[in-house]
Parts: sequence; structure tokens; C-alpha cells
Amino acid sequence: MDDVEIAVATAEDIDGVHRLEVEAFPSPWRREFFVSELTASGRFNLVARRGGKVIGYVFAMWFFDEMHVNKIAVTRRERRRGIAAELMARCVEFARIHRIKTVSLEVRVTNKGAQEFYKMLDFQATYVRQRYYPDGEAAVVMTKTLPS
Ligand SMILES: CC(C)(COP(=O)(O)OP(=O)(O)OC[C@H]1O[C@@H](n2cnc3c(N)ncnc32)[C@H](O)[C@@H]1OP(=O)(O)O)[C@@H](O)C(=O)NCCC(=O)NCCS
Repeated sequence: MDDVEIAVATAEDIDGVHRLEVEAFPSPWRREFFVSELTASGRFNLVARRGGKVIGYVFAMWFFDEMHVNKIAVTRRERRRGIAAELMARCVEFARIHRIKTVSLEVRVTNKGAQEFYKMLDFQATYVRQRYYPDGEAAVVMTKTLPS
């Protein structure tokens, strides 16, 4: 982690973010979607870079006392090094400062690795949203409640 830089995502990061998105997700967001998220209000979008290259990102939105993690990914060869945990720690710290009460997200029912990752961060599976993804797969909604 020493040579990993965590920073607010900028327009220069979008090519790298989108490359990773396509590598990491079966139904990736379109590039334009990330571009519009950069300037949308109530967003908290971070990248992890090594040597200037994007190796991870988290795109989150928040409103009043709720935060929702839209996207998080780390490039395959950089996984299990604590990079996603650090990105989520920054989200939770931001949430704490803004008196946000819950952080939530959706994860594919078959994505057991990501579910384990969220459990490790004290997220709890709250319910299943059937046919949430474009290919018809269901999502598990997971939520973390922050201490008030
Ligand atoms: C999920 C993902 C973001 C995790 O990124 P990461 O940087 O590898 O995660 P970390 O190294 O911070 O993991 C921290 C801990 O979470 C748990 N964890 C992470 N990935 C795991 C996996 N695949 N299986 C089981 N536990 C896992 C472990 O406890 C891990 O600690 P350890 O490595 O000391 O055992 C990454 O696997 C990824 O990009 N997956 C593809 C995209 C995706 O599924 N995103 C989530 C969609 S909702």
C-alpha cells in the first residue's frame, strides 16, 4: 500500500477507471456514466493509483444521512492487498464526518468474494432484489449502520 496513492477521481482517471470496469464487471457502466458522476452533486468518487495508473476505484453517492456505494473494483493482480478496504475506509470516514447513518450497496448473489469483503467491513445482508441486473441476476442489498 505504501506506493498506492488514493485521490479524488478526475477526468484524467476516467479512461483507466473504465478499462478496469470492463475487466471487473459482467454488465459494465458505460464510460459516459463515469464522466457524469464526476460532476454530479452529492458524490464521493476516489481512485487508487500506482505510478499514476488507476488500479482501483470507488464511486459513491450520498444524500442527507445515507450513502450508497455505486461501484468498487480493484484490478485483478492488485487484489488482496487491502486496496479496496482502504477505499471503503475513506468512504466510511467521509460518512462519519457528514453524520451519515447508513452505507448501502448491491452485490450479485453469485459474487461471494465481494460479499465476504463487505462482511469483513461489518456490512449485513438485508434483503434480495430480484432481477436487479440487466442479465436478470438478483442483488443482495448490504448495509452498514454507523454509530451515531
Ligand atoms: C471485491 C474487491 C473490490 C475486493 O478488493 P481487494 O482490494 O482485493 O480487497 P482487500 O484486499 O481490501 O480485501 C480485504 C479483505 O476482504 C476480504 N476479501 C476480499 N476479497 C475477498 C474474496 N474474493 N474472497 C473472500 N474474502 C475476500 C478478506 O478478508 C480480505 O482480507 P485478506 O486478504 O487479508 O484475507 C475485488 O475483488 C474486485 O474488484 N472484484 C471485482 C469487482 C467486484 O466484484 N466489485 C464489487 C461489486 S459489488
